[in-house]
Amino acid sequence: MAKAKTAYVCNECGSEHTKWQGQCTDCGAWNSLSEIVVSPAKAAPAATRRGGYAGDASAPRVLSLVDVAQTVEARTSIGIGELDRVLGGGLVDGSVVLIGGDPGIGKSTLLLQMLGALGERLSGLYVTGEESLAQVAARAQRLGLPLAPLRALAETCVERIIEHAAAQKPRVLIVDSIQTIWTELLTAAPGSVSQVRESAAKLTRFAKETGISVFLVGHVTKEGGIAGPRVLEHMVDAVLYFEGESGSRFRVLRAFKNRFGAVNELGVFAMSEKGLREVPNPSAIFLSAHAGPTPGSAVMVTREGTRPLLVEVQALVDQSPLANPRRVALGLEQNRLAMLLAVLHRHGGAAVYDQDVFVNVVGGIRVQETAADLPILFAILSSFRDRPLPDKLVAFGEVGLSGEIRPVPNGEERLKEAATHGFLKAVVPKANAPKKSRVGDMDVVGVERLSEALGAIL
Ligand code: TYD
Ligand code: MG
Repeated sequence: MAKAKTAYVCNECGSEHTKWQGQCTDCGAWNSLSEIVVSPAKAAPAATRRGGYAGDASAPRVLSLVDVAQTVEARTSIGIGELDRVLGGGLVDGSVVLIGGDPGIGKSTLLLQMLGALGERLSGLYVTGEESLAQVAARAQRLGLPLAPLRALAETCVERIIEHAAAQKPRVLIVDSIQTIWTELLTAAPGSVSQVRESAAKLTRFAKETGISVFLVGHVTKEGGIAGPRVLEHMVDAVLYFEGESGSRFRVLRAFKNRFGAVNELGVFAMSEKGLREVPNPSAIFLSAHAGPTPGSAVMVTREGTRPLLVEVQALVDQSPLANPRRVALGLEQNRLAMLLAVLHRHGGAAVYDQDVFVNVVGGIRVQETAADLPILFAILSSFRDRPLPDKLVAFGEVGLSGEIRPVPNGEERLKEAATHGFLKAVVPKANAPKKSRVGDMDVVGVERLSEALGAIL
């Protein structure tokens, strides 16, 4: 094949350059240029062309959405409930899903189990660029999957993968992992940004043209993003992250982007000797089993996706030997922690500027919503004072810079979940508290200011 025309694109700002250079002249970023293929316009498939010719049947037409509505989103239930949930209710034909996660977290296992669950109903093709076919077969056997309907291919060249897929006509194509895939069009090494981007673009185009659902496995960089340019996230229909602590057997699949469902939807799995098992009712698994109340531990009700989840937040506040005390947030945003500590000092009267502060969300899950603010401050204060919080206490609420406690969405649902799990007291934003200040056996204290909230627990 003739070498394609290439250009260089900056991974930071996206500007194009005709030749490689060490620094992007547009944004000033160093070493950020990577090679891309400039495809000639006539090679573009009909569906992506801007205009059309009169009389060309395949050219785009203007349609009323009524006529389109019935044809989109043909969904297939996979049969793994938690995966269906994160995908927004099943597998969509022609969709491209990127699954990211640390090595060893279980991405390959999950996708193999997905093919197993689909079995004869929906034919699949598992393309492996990392493991040998024997390894894939051994794993499938260990997982107890029916081997006959599982087809696999060890290949890394995207052109040949597409050739095989076009011949085999699977309904689901899994590419594990996109970082090992390369295209003949580029000379860059596999795994480089340009190769990943171009290969993903080819596979995406293939999915759209054929209606085959494609799953791409992506490795995660040190910074926590999927390796490769951010453009990979824009190219695909859904980005799912597979997360979990190495010591914990629980794994959380999170929808980071989904064109066909809710973002931040969570699916919870447990890793066992027989592969990943669903945890269909996960609301209490992120609570650690303390014998009694412990300083530095607070329980919150988070609502990630479409269901409430009880999660324990732990804090350790300790005299710091450093001039710049450490602030470490695991499973939370670092800047948010710094802000909360400032609010605690100014409006809660607790000065922790000479203390190291560590905050961790139990179970390796990430909490991104602001409802975590109040329980985080409770945990910090409890550790700072070395006094446990009242037994069976639960909290949620956003904390503002002026010390006000702001309401969060779905308060009633969160309170109900906590009451169901036997909590006896809840400290929540006033606007989220019910009028009769009780939910089941649980007392609900509605607060408007941080000082009030701290008064309610000490
Ligand atoms: P894997 O799917 O290979 O992870 P990834 O593709 O994300 O790198 O997961 C491998 C890990 O899962 C490995 O540490 C072993 C563990 N595992 C089990 O505990 N039980 C099983 O049945 C399987 C297949 C794997
Ligand atoms: Mg793998």
